[in-house]
Amino acid sequence: MIKASNITKSYGNLQVLRGVDLHVGKGEIVSIVGKSGAGKSTLLHILGTLGRPDGGHLTIDGKDVFSLTDRQLAAFRNQHIGFVFQFHHLLPEFTALENVCIPAYIAKTEPEVAKRKAMELLTYLGLADRAEHKPNQMSGGEQQRVAVARALINSPAVVFADEPTGNLDSGSSEELHKLLFQLRDDFGQSFIIVTHNEELARISDRRLEMVDGVL
Ligand SMILES: Nc1ncnc2c1ncn2[C@@H]1O[C@H](COP(=O)(O)OP(=O)(O)OP(=O)(O)O)[C@@H](O)[C@H]1O
Ligand SMILES: [Mg+2]
Repeated sequence: MIKASNITKSYGNLQVLRGVDLHVGKGEIVSIVGKSGAGKSTLLHILGTLGRPDGGHLTIDGKDVFSLTDRQLAAFRNQHIGFVFQFHHLLPEFTALENVCIPAYIAKTEPEVAKRKAMELLTYLGLADRAEHKPNQMSGGEQQRVAVARALINSPAVVFADEPTGNLDSGSSEELHKLLFQLRDDFGQSFIIVTHNEELARISDRRLEMVDGVL
């Protein structure tokens, strides 16, 4: 599903990634832990194809992604990869349903089809009665579940999450963790999650620690 080999990345003189190797199978939930500044977000950014490494290779779903042009890569990302961040980045002017639909519209899905799929996902996530609410009319946990629905609307093979529960209380965090496992069981997505939450790391299929720029 995902094969990264010898990924390197520096910012000026600071070598952040020193040759990261990682294989993640279909439906696998991998958590990445490590000290602040260890390079976890930098790695996730590159694995999510949001940034290019200085060196190394990455294949996702059989595609050698960094051989693609920026434009091809953006289309690939839209269709194969989902993202959930610590701060949900929902658009404040749009309803939950509209926020979830946006990646589908970018993929040129018919609006009616997109809305139906978005409503199915919101219902699955227990948010059917919040579909017409704007982000500031929802709790933090609800907003984060909308962000999960948005990540899933194009049925990506893999979802990357950077501290998805970093901003939630322990009850909402636990609920979101359960949800990720339920999604994996129901839809077969792979998840790569950067987290400081040791409980999530413990229940993951694999817990990897980033130390000195390698996993
Ligand atoms: N755009 C950038 N330019 C220069 N240095 C950067 C940039 N992004 C990150 N860094 C540096 O790279 C190192 C790794 O940062 P990164 O954000 O990947 O850490 P992290 O493991 O995610 O930390 P945290 O747990 O605090 O989120 C840090 O020393 C950071 O200051
Ligand atoms: Mg980080």
